Amino acid sequence: MTRQRFVPAAVQPFKPPIATARRCGVSLLRALLLLAPLTLLLGAQPAAALNLSLEPLQPIPEKIPADPALAKLGEKLFFDPRLSADNTISCAHCHDLEHGGVDGLKHSYGVDGREGMVNSPTVFNSGLNFAQFWDGRAATLEDQIDGPVTGHVEMDSKWPDVLKKLREDQLYKQRFHTLFDDGLTANNVKHAIAEFERTLLTPDSRFDRYLKGDVNAINEAEKHGYALFKSYGCVSCHQGRNVGGNLFQKLGVMGDYFKENAMENKAGLGRFNVTGLASDKHRFKVPSLRLVVLTAPYFHNGRYRTLAETIRTMAKFQLGRHIPDEDIRYIIQFLYTLPGKYRGKSLEPKDRPLLHFGNLDSAPSGADS
Ligand code: HEC
Ligand code: HEC
Repeated sequence: MTRQRFVPAAVQPFKPPIATARRCGVSLLRALLLLAPLTLLLGAQPAAALNLSLEPLQPIPEKIPADPALAKLGEKLFFDPRLSADNTISCAHCHDLEHGGVDGLKHSYGVDGREGMVNSPTVFNSGLNFAQFWDGRAATLEDQIDGPVTGHVEMDSKWPDVLKKLREDQLYKQRFHTLFDDGLTANNVKHAIAEFERTLLTPDSRFDRYLKGDVNAINEAEKHGYALFKSYGCVSCHQGRNVGGNLFQKLGVMGDYFKENAMENKAGLGRFNVTGLASDKHRFKVPSLRLVVLTAPYFHNGRYRTLAETIRTMAKFQLGRHIPDEDIRYIIQFLYTLPGKYRGKSLEPKDRPLLHFGNLDSAPSGADS
């Protein structure tokens, strides 16, 4: 079947306001805007090795520098429920590494079954994000950890209690004293967990192999999906190594999302909760799409169970347009090429929607109902 190439109505994709470039460097943004029309042209060419430096997406690095002994200690802590007040909830409780680094629920539940306000993002590749949390309120992985450990709806602990419990464990005592002059402290616990998180990378996806020059690593439908992802302008926000995670953007650039979808709680105010600036109302960190095929439901509010629904919502409120189902199917094919490998094992799901058949709006298996 020959298919007509999609011709974007608006040739210039959405331009993020310059203010958003503060954190990622204005030069990157300029480069992106300059390259956008070029990448549209390139998308029209037959399969050939890409010029990586011209692509808006980049491969995930094999490694970011991390001390193996410290990361190993952090891994033990990540799985340790003693970080929570009643010794029941570990980080892994809400960030299940066997399930894309999320809990698969609309909102997360902490100690005593307390319900949180937002959906849990993945911890995989979080070290590549320019800030942590939906509203970016933590600048680093280290800073992020106070949130869950002391949060009422998460682990509800106090650091002195956590440290007391951990000091009773001889293994921890010994490891911390080997690695740090000041032994077992809250800062060092954070440091260790963050070091482990920096190792949670998923390099070597089929898409990354394609970017690096293996033209057959993804098939024609997936290539077409990538071309659509670029030509519709998704890449103006979901970009870089993590296919997101390097900008803040308003939810509802081209329409009032919260007029049509009630704000569930104050988390819907997004970055406004951090800065108090009216211009930051409903602004969120653009999430990474690297593992998005594994992490339903979607959005900070966990409102969408399927990728199709999510993409339609994006098109309407972020791009001000309707995307035909057929194009959504191709974009989804492309998204399936993005998960890479963790510890040598591919995270790409074995079940995937068929390109031309099946119900586009059925939730992926394992998604919360
Ligand atoms: C009760 C469930 C729960 C627990 C326990 C939990 N998290 Fe989270 N985590 C979440 C939710 C929900 C968010 C998003 C919160 C927000 O953005 O306001 C989040 C966000 C994060 C992020 C930011 C990711 C991003 O892309 O913004 C990281 C990193 C993270 N958690 C790591 C941890 C670590 C490390 C621990 C253990 C110390 C932990 N989490 C414990 C639910 C949980
Ligand atoms: C103007 C910036 C912008 C554009 C353009 C954009 N997005 Fe988004 N995208 C966002 C933001 C911000 C969120 C987070 C919304 C929230 O959680 O409330 C998001 C969320 C998503 C999610 C859900 C991720 C998750 O883990 O919950 C998917 C999937 C997605 N976008 C795909 C797309 C696709 C496909 C396109 C192109 C058709 C697109 N986006 C265009 C900014 C954008």
